[in-house]
Amino acid sequence: MKLRLAATLAGPAITALAVLWLAQPPAALGNPAAALAWAQDVVPGGPAAEKYEFVGTGKCRVCHLKIFKSWESGKHGKALDSLRPGQATAAKARHGLDPDRDYTRDKGCLECHVTGLDRKGGYAVPKPGDKKAEKKAKEMAGVGCESCHGAGSETDKVFQEIHRTKRKYKVEELYKAGLTRMEVGLCKTCHNPRSPTFDKEAKFDYEELKKTVHAREELKQRE
Ligand code: HEC
Ligand code: HEC
Ligand code: HEC
Ligand code: HEC
Repeated sequence: MKLRLAATLAGPAITALAVLWLAQPPAALGNPAAALAWAQDVVPGGPAAEKYEFVGTGKCRVCHLKIFKSWESGKHGKALDSLRPGQATAAKARHGLDPDRDYTRDKGCLECHVTGLDRKGGYAVPKPGDKKAEKKAKEMAGVGCESCHGAGSETDKVFQEIHRTKRKYKVEELYKAGLTRMEVGLCKTCHNPRSPTFDKEAKFDYEELKKTVHAREELKQRE
């Protein structure tokens, strides 16, 4: 499954497709073929993923500890664990997956269960016994901060600077540095019928769910 769109096209494409998605009558939302076509045009990790490098969840942790902790103990933080044998066995059995199989080296699964699979700085399947690669992979395990907020190599520079100077900033500065514009289309890059456990009947209420993905922080410097 080749994800094809160029970085420059992905931003507008996400927006346009999200609008299309939202404009669909409820019955069409569960249409696997439409959702499949839709999902293949957008990439997890954000539109900037091809242009910027992933820096790892540990970087974000330093300044956003409360968010990090709630993320770590939540479903996105633990998403790689679900691919291990003996984990989430009931869900696997229900959806025709083998509860005893190790899916942690299966790229068809990792794509949505880790951060930036095979992208610059992103998750790379470690060779068994390669301690350095294993350590790096741990940094990028699960649906990390950058899976949703975009690869952080440039935003990190802005974050460091606004943290140090305590100055006010406009979010547009961060968008220019690769921060993903948060909207339902981003969630749907993974929450779609290509997920073997996807439930077509379940409602994906973005406005409600976005409040629950992790603990919230009041933004005091944002203008
Ligand atoms: C050096 C400290 C620091 C690091 C490291 C850091 N941030 Fe931040 N971040 C900040 C500060 C400061 C703000 C603005 C807070 C405020 O307005 O009170 C911020 C704001 C944000 C925002 C809100 C942007 C907006 O205006 O909508 C997001 C999202 C964010 N950070 C994500 C991340 C992610 C993801 C990482 C890791 C790649 C990260 N941060 C790393 C300090 C940091
Ligand atoms: C990079 C892929 C990816 C993106 C992007 C993503 N998710 Fe997820 N999400 C997952 C995976 C994988 C799981 C399941 C983790 C597990 O249990 O192993 C999950 C689980 C969840 C769950 C828990 C579901 C349940 O049945 O318990 C919620 C709620 C959720 N995501 C909401 C969101 C929202 C809201 C967004 C967008 C702001 C989003 N997700 C973006 C991959 C993603
Ligand atoms: C297109 C993205 C995507 C792919 C590919 C994907 N998953 Fe997931 N997975 C998700 C999302 C999103 C969720 C949470 C909501 C749902 O079930 O759709 C999830 C949830 C799960 C859960 C449920 C965890 C629980 O506790 O309920 C298991 C188990 C799982 N995935 C295993 C796999 C395996 C094994 C593969 C490969 C054969 C795979 N996934 C491929 C996105 C994906
Ligand atoms: C599944 C997607 C997802 C993941 C993973 C994720 N976030 Fe977020 N983040 C969101 C959403 C959704 C919002 C709310 C955006 C909005 O209100 O428009 C948000 C908001 C924020 C904000 C702004 C403050 C706030 O509370 O609104 C910061 C800072 C932030 N995230 C940091 C992080 C950090 C650090 C991590 C990793 C530890 C992380 N996020 C992981 C989706 C995600």
